[in-house]
Amino acid sequence: MKILIVGSGGREHAIAWSAAKSKNVQEIYCAPGNAGISQYAQCVDIGAMEFDRLAEFAQEKEIDLTIIGMDDPLVGGIVDVFEAKGLKVFGPRKNAAILEGSKAFSKDLMKKYHIPTAAYENFDDPEKALAYLRTKAQFPIVLKADGLALGKGVLICNTLKEAEDGVKEIMEDKKFGSAGNTMVIEEFMTGREVSVLSFVDGKTIKTMTSAQDHKRAMDGDKGLNTGGMGTFSPSPFYTKEVDAFCQEHIFKPTVDAMAAEGRPFVGIIFFGLMLTKDGPKVLEYNARFGDPEAQVVLPRMKNDIIEVMEACVNGTLDQIDLEFEDNAAVCVVLASDGYPVKYEKGFAIEGLDQFQDKDGYYCFHAGTKFADGKIVTNGGRVLGITAKGKDLKEARKNAYAATEWVSFANKYMRHDIGKAIDEA
Ligand code: AMP
Ligand code: GLY
Repeated sequence: MKILIVGSGGREHAIAWSAAKSKNVQEIYCAPGNAGISQYAQCVDIGAMEFDRLAEFAQEKEIDLTIIGMDDPLVGGIVDVFEAKGLKVFGPRKNAAILEGSKAFSKDLMKKYHIPTAAYENFDDPEKALAYLRTKAQFPIVLKADGLALGKGVLICNTLKEAEDGVKEIMEDKKFGSAGNTMVIEEFMTGREVSVLSFVDGKTIKTMTSAQDHKRAMDGDKGLNTGGMGTFSPSPFYTKEVDAFCQEHIFKPTVDAMAAEGRPFVGIIFFGLMLTKDGPKVLEYNARFGDPEAQVVLPRMKNDIIEVMEACVNGTLDQIDLEFEDNAAVCVVLASDGYPVKYEKGFAIEGLDQFQDKDGYYCFHAGTKFADGKIVTNGGRVLGITAKGKDLKEARKNAYAATEWVSFANKYMRHDIGKAIDEA
């Protein structure tokens, strides 16, 4: 088979690595890709939002399956464009990707189908949002821009003043652009966060092993929200009992709800969960693999990823048994100092060859490129260093040891990825 992957981050590197192991795969292309992905794939200089050019490329190269890694093209309807041309593509259509693309839609869906989530109200008028905050709100409270905002459209407000400023930022100043035309105001929840990723074929759902992300920039969960500074898998807090509850009350009901709404979901549903004292509740849905969740989940998956994805597209996922290794993985993100605000790039990266032929160690590239024949930093998140171990403690030790193998000028990382497992 010939495969095309759309995206350019660590998640797409993990997907490309996984696809390269498939016995069915002969050639992989990635648009636009990055320096690390080019070890397995031919990188093609077409942007992820250039749907027509991508589809033309897929036709010209006779691509057998295109995998969409990123949220923006999915929410923008890339799958519909490919399908209209008779191309096979893995990911939800536009009318299903709305599960991630509109928080107001996903909250209304959960309410209608009794899927546990935080209490909320949707607003498209800032005056009404302010009136609600002044008369009915309890603090802290959470404001969310409805649309995609690079993971930054969520504000946790401790006071009325902060919330008033938040409404202004989101709905009036349009800090997140049109994503802020509508806003969700929701109850603040406390508990452990867990990410559960799943394959879905429209009716059947098969969940992957659990993971947890660390979204804040600094140790101790301080600093600004980022795309994710590191992950571990599995989460020791995601027990068999929690899983049984989620399968019955969250996962299957979500897939059934989408089908009942005439929006059958095919692809990946990423359930962002909060394990509250009243039970697990949905924080958010994403319509794609997590980044850097994919970097700890895929190295532990025993299945041939292409076989599973084809089963999703063909509607035969019920015939697949998903299997994961009985071990653990930790991913530590090496970022450019100053991320997520301001940082320099273009620095040479040394030591990448250390990962060659080392079983259980992976260096997934997030923001890298070739310059004058060398691999240089090219983003806020630069590399995701993943290591496996027999348990989380060992995986963590291995991952941190491997972070020392590579160097670049403004290398920055958190030192407490997976530390929470000490409390489990
Ligand atoms: P989201 O993009 O919806 O995942 O939100 C980003 C982060 O904000 C989550 O990972 C949580 O840490 C936090 N968050 C979102 N919604 C809530 C909520 N209702 N209560 C507490 N924290 C929240
Ligand atoms: N790591 C969080 C996300 O991919 O949305």
